[in-house]
Amino acid sequence: MRTEALSAIEGTSTSEELEELRVRYLGRKSDLKQALRAVRDRESGMALNAARAAIEGALEQREQELTAAADVEDTGFDPTLPGAQLTRGRLHLITQIRREVEDVFLGLGYRVFDGPEVDTVENNFTALNTPEAHPSRAASDTFYVSDDVVLRTHTSPSQIRAMLEQQPPVYLIALGRAYRRDTPDATHSPVFHQVEALAIDRGITLADLRGTMEHFSSAIFGGTREVRMRTSFFPFTEPSVEFDVSCAICDGAGCPVCKHSGWIEMGGAGVVDPAVLSGVGYDPEVWSGFAFGLGLERIAMLRHGLPDLRLLWENDVRVLSQF
Ligand code: FA5
Repeated sequence: MRTEALSAIEGTSTSEELEELRVRYLGRKSDLKQALRAVRDRESGMALNAARAAIEGALEQREQELTAAADVEDTGFDPTLPGAQLTRGRLHLITQIRREVEDVFLGLGYRVFDGPEVDTVENNFTALNTPEAHPSRAASDTFYVSDDVVLRTHTSPSQIRAMLEQQPPVYLIALGRAYRRDTPDATHSPVFHQVEALAIDRGITLADLRGTMEHFSSAIFGGTREVRMRTSFFPFTEPSVEFDVSCAICDGAGCPVCKHSGWIEMGGAGVVDPAVLSGVGYDPEVWSGFAFGLGLERIAMLRHGLPDLRLLWENDVRVLSQF
């Protein structure tokens, strides 16, 4: 009975034929049902039930095959063909680095502050102690939205916004886009990303900045990175430094990426100028702090040996899918 049913099912070509076979082999009046009703011993019962399961399975499978075949006829769509290979998406390298940087500083007890990309001249320059005649204010360097409003040229105005909102101590980072009228080249883009860190507390010195930089560099570049400071100038820090990190590619031995110096320039930093602190109502006799700012594209270039930051924004999946 079972062999006969299975070969009959195999031979059907319509759902109607299949339904007929279902009634014939599994219906109330079928031989199988009658035999099941009459059975008395366990072994025969099991054998009959196995036959019923096999026939049910064969009916179901044939039903699916017939439906699929009907679909192909109706629509030309064959659900039994393998699907198109879907490529999995991933986070952009800059987003990955942004999240890693956030994790490092959240682990140190900093909070993430979100400032706007369009900000006032006051927050972007004046409150940061930038003189009226400073070249960075020029319309040839900065995108002006109006006389008083700019596309922020760095993430530093977030320092001002945060300090105006809260009383010290302050431990925060601010990450996001910044805009400058820079001509695009291998290391410059008119739109780029910065991470800003600000720590204000009692008794903070340049030594705290250095320790924080070392921790940050090791966490982002791996190994134990050394940090070197060179004197520099920013209107909003005094003293100001530019800091270099020992090259993560050659571990300081010298290679093409670090131009054989063993050091890689990371960004600007310094001890927050007392004029900035008093400008936001903090007493510089009580509070002191450090700040630094660096480019996220720069981190990406250094960590992955990218020769040109424009590669990050051309949206070539062959490049981006490597990270
Ligand atoms: C500043 O922007 C200061 N606000 C940094 C700072 C913060 C100093 C807090 C002291 C205290 P600077 O102009 O050097 O500094 O820019 C910092 C980093 O931003 C650079 O090292 C570079 O990595 C990145 N950067 C600047 N301009 C561009 C650009 N056009 N394209 C890509 N990255 C840029």
